[in-house]
Amino acid sequence: MRGVFIKPVTNLKGEIRVPGDKSISHRAALFGGMAYGETHISNFLLGQDCLSTLRCLKQLGVPWERQEKEVWIRSEGMDAWQEPIDVLDAGNSGTTLRLMLGALAGSPFTVTMNGDESLRSRPMRRVTDPLKQMGARIMGRREGNLAPLTMMGGQLQGQSFRTPVASAQIKSAILLAGLRASGETSVEEPALSRDHTERMLRGFGVDVQSNQTIVRVHGGGRLTGQAVSVPGDISSAAFFLVLGSLVGQGEIILPDVGINPTRTGILDVLKGMGADIELFNVEEVCGEPRATIRVRPAKLKGIEIAGDMIPRLIDEIPILAVAACLAEGETVIRDAAELRVKETDRISTVVGGLNALGAKVEELPDGLRIQGQTSLYGGQANSLGDHRLAMAWAIAGMLSKEGVSVEDMAAADVSFPDFLAVIKKVAG
Ligand code: S3P
Repeated sequence: MRGVFIKPVTNLKGEIRVPGDKSISHRAALFGGMAYGETHISNFLLGQDCLSTLRCLKQLGVPWERQEKEVWIRSEGMDAWQEPIDVLDAGNSGTTLRLMLGALAGSPFTVTMNGDESLRSRPMRRVTDPLKQMGARIMGRREGNLAPLTMMGGQLQGQSFRTPVASAQIKSAILLAGLRASGETSVEEPALSRDHTERMLRGFGVDVQSNQTIVRVHGGGRLTGQAVSVPGDISSAAFFLVLGSLVGQGEIILPDVGINPTRTGILDVLKGMGADIELFNVEEVCGEPRATIRVRPAKLKGIEIAGDMIPRLIDEIPILAVAACLAEGETVIRDAAELRVKETDRISTVVGGLNALGAKVEELPDGLRIQGQTSLYGGQANSLGDHRLAMAWAIAGMLSKEGVSVEDMAAADVSFPDFLAVIKKVAG
């Protein structure tokens, strides 16, 4: 297959409406399916991942309709969910697989969940072990670590867990199971991961108590259908924050982007590198803050990123690595071993991809060391089926000397279906 050639650009101007937040779209669909009554979702992300969540709900007998980015779900709660007659396919989506397992753990039926080649290689024991401890029976390859996974749900007992990594998917799966368990379920994380589940469950009427890195729910919590307006995805905006910072001239405006503090590490780090980023029209809608973001070109310098900052920007590291290549001085990213179990091993795929374009990036066991320089040469890059790599390589192409030919650019559809059309528009 021929790659998509992305030309260098020197000048950009325009307004970009990034698509709806992926994490929030998944949760709005899933919680709408778990709730009693009608849920209306606006600005739902039409990426392949969130469509997988909607498809799984349909197989469980949850009625929904969709018109463009609006979704209506009319559910009678989880007791009305039916045993699916076929395997539930989560596609490329870890969030679909892990959150669905948590939600389904208290259902009195058997369900098998599977995914694509990438998802079938990602670790699931981090979720299946706690769910088993609560009472679910789960089988899968490597002692329940790899999909396909078959779960026989049933009676669950609330438990207290300490997770070894800060992961919103682990936290959410346990909390969703906890809603159908006896007594209290709590999760303590080593650092705070994104808290969309906690915020949205409260919006659906569930009592969720949280204190820094500990969250608690009680069994029997009932969800009531809601109207959910999904903000733009800061993880999608991140590509334009980097592009707008490093392009020669111009200005990019990104309206209605979610700025939940558990997700804004990219803003803090880019500003720490010297970026010219300003926020306007800050408001809170459906329990989630959002703002218009303006970015203008600036000289960036290298930075050190580690510790509690990592979960606040974990999905943005591929595009931050592109920024670091074009910044002055060295950037070091540590404590990010979780990157190895994302859609690809994003430590080794980022190192391989960027070095092939002329960068100087060294692989660390838990991160990257990047020597900043004043240009990226360009060449060939392959997304390897990873949506965030596809988009990072395209932005690298726009900022390179010779352009970049991106193999499997279509992978971007997982989280940003119109990505190519949007970059064409801003590049004029
Ligand atoms: C997500 C949580 C993060 C993130 C993923 C989406 C979510 O994964 O990387 O893209 O929606 O809960 P982990 O929870 O595994 O860190």
